[in-house]
Amino acid sequence: MTPHEILHRVFGHAEFRGPQEQIISDVIAGRDCLAIMPTGAGKSLCYQVPALVRPGTALVISPLIALMEDQVQALHTQGVRAGTLNSQSTDGGQVWRDFVDGQFDLLYVSPERALSDGFGQMVQRTEIALIAIDEAHCVSQWGHDFRPEYRRLKPFCDSLPGVPRIALTATADRETRADIALQLGIASDRITLSGFDRPNIRYDVVGRDTLHRQLLAFMAGQAGRAGIIYAPTRAATEKICDWLVEAGYRARPYHAGLEAGIRSRHQADFVKSEDMVMCATIAFGMGINKPDVRFVVHAGLPKSIESYYQETGRAGRDGDPAVAHLIWGGEDVARLRGFIAAGDGSDAHKANEARRMNALIAFLETAGCRRQELLRYFGETAPATCGNCDNCLNPPTLLDATEAARKLLSAVYRTGQRFGTGHLIEVLGGKATEKVQKFGHDRSSVFGIGKDWPADQWKSLARQLEAIDALERDPQHGGLVLGPAARPILKGEVAINLKQVEPRRAAKASSSAAGADVAPQDRALFDELRSLRRQLAADAGVPPYIVFADATLRAMAARRPQSMADMARIPGVGAVKLESWGPAFLAAITASAA
Ligand SMILES: Nc1ncnc2c1ncn2[C@@H]1O[C@H](COP(=O)(O)OP(=O)(O)OP(=O)(O)O)[C@@H](O)[C@H]1O
Ligand SMILES: [Mg+2]
Ligand SMILES: [Zn+2]
Repeated sequence: MTPHEILHRVFGHAEFRGPQEQIISDVIAGRDCLAIMPTGAGKSLCYQVPALVRPGTALVISPLIALMEDQVQALHTQGVRAGTLNSQSTDGGQVWRDFVDGQFDLLYVSPERALSDGFGQMVQRTEIALIAIDEAHCVSQWGHDFRPEYRRLKPFCDSLPGVPRIALTATADRETRADIALQLGIASDRITLSGFDRPNIRYDVVGRDTLHRQLLAFMAGQAGRAGIIYAPTRAATEKICDWLVEAGYRARPYHAGLEAGIRSRHQADFVKSEDMVMCATIAFGMGINKPDVRFVVHAGLPKSIESYYQETGRAGRDGDPAVAHLIWGGEDVARLRGFIAAGDGSDAHKANEARRMNALIAFLETAGCRRQELLRYFGETAPATCGNCDNCLNPPTLLDATEAARKLLSAVYRTGQRFGTGHLIEVLGGKATEKVQKFGHDRSSVFGIGKDWPADQWKSLARQLEAIDALERDPQHGGLVLGPAARPILKGEVAINLKQVEPRRAAKASSSAAGADVAPQDRALFDELRSLRRQLAADAGVPPYIVFADATLRAMAARRPQSMADMARIPGVGAVKLESWGPAFLAAITASAA
């Protein structure tokens, strides 16, 4: 079969995406390749198709057992002969024998297994189609997940001359890319870089006032959808999970403090569900293959733009619309700064971290297009507006806040650099509360000089001043103190622009749960097909998306195939799935017309 035939018949897709076709033809021709493509872009296909074209078995090195099993399961439903060898394989002996017999198109192996002596000898006597190294950033110390055993993969590949190697990663960083190629012995002119844009993800960023209220308001627009909420601490994940459960959502916590058994159960529940919310620390997510994650919320700041991109990238891998929602506060900035200062490493390393943090803050503060800001960070040019981020959809009004910033900084100074935002805003607003009177701040020269602004606007200014280091937090009492960037502002040497805070609006409840773009007349059938999918998935012991993606069900509901031949033309319906599940869906469609 040609690559196109394999794409249609085995995988059920209509077209190759982006650089897939080029990479696939290179690997088939025996050329090495380092493919750098965003999360969800379809890297797996880049080695799965050549594996079916080239003679012999393709070895796929993958760092995570869950990831391997998931892929093998999906391949089985497509009728592809695949197996896995890792430290947890129970049927290792059988897999081993099948491998030697040439029974597999693909064998997924952990790096440890691949590097064992026995395996090294075995591959010399077996026909190997290609070596794929997934999550290849693990080979680089610059990457975010260094695995020392990945360093020994180059000699392993070298021991199989003539076998093409293809490394794959979503890592964006320029230094890391070059290092991966070097460490795996891939020539630097064999790097394929595809754009980092994830156009189906809508980015939005808000300042924090009341996390509980803000989260529930956001969730009101996401009912019936699966998503991830990242929180900075274990305790916060538990707390957020409780809030959601109280409010009637299906939610689970996930963090390193939970017993391994509980963690993997929660993960499995999440992957199988269509509407669960995972409240997690960043321990959760790497290698999770759940294409129908509809939203990722950051209830606090990510570590850097790279981390933000990685974490938000887990949303919408199926290509359907998804949301990345970030809620941040000034304390988060203080906390990150603290980590950087306290961390070990050279001054140069700390300076580098500080630079990365400033880039993150610029992203939070921008009044321009978020997507453009993100892509620029990765060295890509992008149009000035994307139409799918908060700033593009709802362009902010900018205020000249230079004078107001001076007032706020003076208030900090005049009250002795000991108080938090709440108290300072009362003083500025001229509220003679008990506490204000107790400290005599009602008689201070700054009392009431900020009456013209609402409290939310002052909060936003305080957050921004903290972000640019004009305000800092005293490590002992937590009050705001003047930072190094305060002086030029007080002296009127720099201007401060601030987004006008809009009055709070009730969250727009989204029209429907999954598949927002299902036509009203197809809605009932779509829901029926989903419930059929749920049942078939449960019977087969696989997550629903492995049966068919939402997009596939949407196409069925719209086109209403009347025969197996019609059904085969629906994107996402390959030959084997057609045989296993086509009749059931066809029957449901026919029944609905009756
Ligand atoms: N040509 C295509 N047409 C339609 N869907 C595709 C195509 N190629 C891949 N997909 C789908 O895209 C989704 C993501 O693919 P895949 O798991 O390979 O992503 P990835 O690039 O490895 O992402 P990650 O970095 O998160 O591992 C899958 O659901 C897959 O079926
Ligand atoms: Mg992948
Ligand atoms: Zn935009």
